[in-house]
Amino acid sequence: MSSLKAPSLLTPQGVDYAMIDSGEGRKLERFGTVLVDRPEPQAVWERKLKAEKWAGAQAVFAPKGGDEEGESGNWELRGKVPERWEMSFDGMPFYARVTPFRHMGCFPDQSPQWAWLKQTVKPGMKVLNLFGYTGVASMVAAGARAEVVHVDASKKAIGFGRESVELAGMGEAKIRWICDDALAFVAREGRRGNSYDVVLMDPPKFGRGPDGEKWEFFDGMPGLLRDVAAITKPDGAVWLTAYALRVSSVALGTMLGEAMGKGEVEVGEFVSEDGFGRRFTNSMWARWEGTK
Ligand SMILES: C[S@@+](CC[C@H](N)C(=O)[O-])C[C@H]1O[C@@H](n2cnc3c(N)ncnc32)[C@H](O)[C@@H]1O
Repeated sequence: MSSLKAPSLLTPQGVDYAMIDSGEGRKLERFGTVLVDRPEPQAVWERKLKAEKWAGAQAVFAPKGGDEEGESGNWELRGKVPERWEMSFDGMPFYARVTPFRHMGCFPDQSPQWAWLKQTVKPGMKVLNLFGYTGVASMVAAGARAEVVHVDASKKAIGFGRESVELAGMGEAKIRWICDDALAFVAREGRRGNSYDVVLMDPPKFGRGPDGEKWEFFDGMPGLLRDVAAITKPDGAVWLTAYALRVSSVALGTMLGEAMGKGEVEVGEFVSEDGFGRRFTNSMWARWEGTK
């Protein structure tokens, strides 16, 4: 049985991102040089900045009617917004972009995880990044000279990750890019007897493997966690993140602790804070660390 540590609140660090203002159901953010105005149902308070400041946003997302909390909607681009632009974490560059969903092709709120990786990963360690998407976490681990396996079901997403590696001049980095169903890959690694020091997983609520394999969080987690436990070293670590789901960090930590067994579980929230100290949660996380 694992012991569960109390929730921690973690805000972005080391990344050129800022939430400038929030309120009235929206947030005004700066991703590198680009100012973005997006929906944020949690921001029920009043905005602090004048309308002129908000009007300076270069990308404004209008949700589709009836889907105020969902991802569907349209971007209005004002002025010149490049197809992709540079951001960085602790000096390591990667690309941001306007995506058809309401995100910017990168998740600065996860930067406390990148900082943890930088601190924890030692040369030669094996790191598995499941549902890896942008690849920023894979790049941070590879920058610490780990051998990284990055798995995502989307060829396009893998392409984005590779573009960022090129931008960062990390051609020599040990990252294996694998377009596969996360569950199928982990089960296969178990059969091959491969094991990892660190496993990251950021599964969506719903998803599809490359051959249309259905992923649904609550149905899929028990099997995925069981197989992840089988390929994680007893002194390793597993970090699970969840967005847009009816799940608390404590429940995530319990799932993880039950599957992983002996070790410590810490749980928390990735939190955004605007320029006036108003905060809300972006996602939940739980991290298991085995006995050293
Ligand atoms: C929430 S995003 C992960 C974001 C990631 N933490 C990052 O920093 O970029 C979820 C990713 O899971 C991928 N995905 C969905 N279903 C999958 C499956 N069955 N197997 C592997 N990847 C899947 C999607 O293509 C998407 O890139």
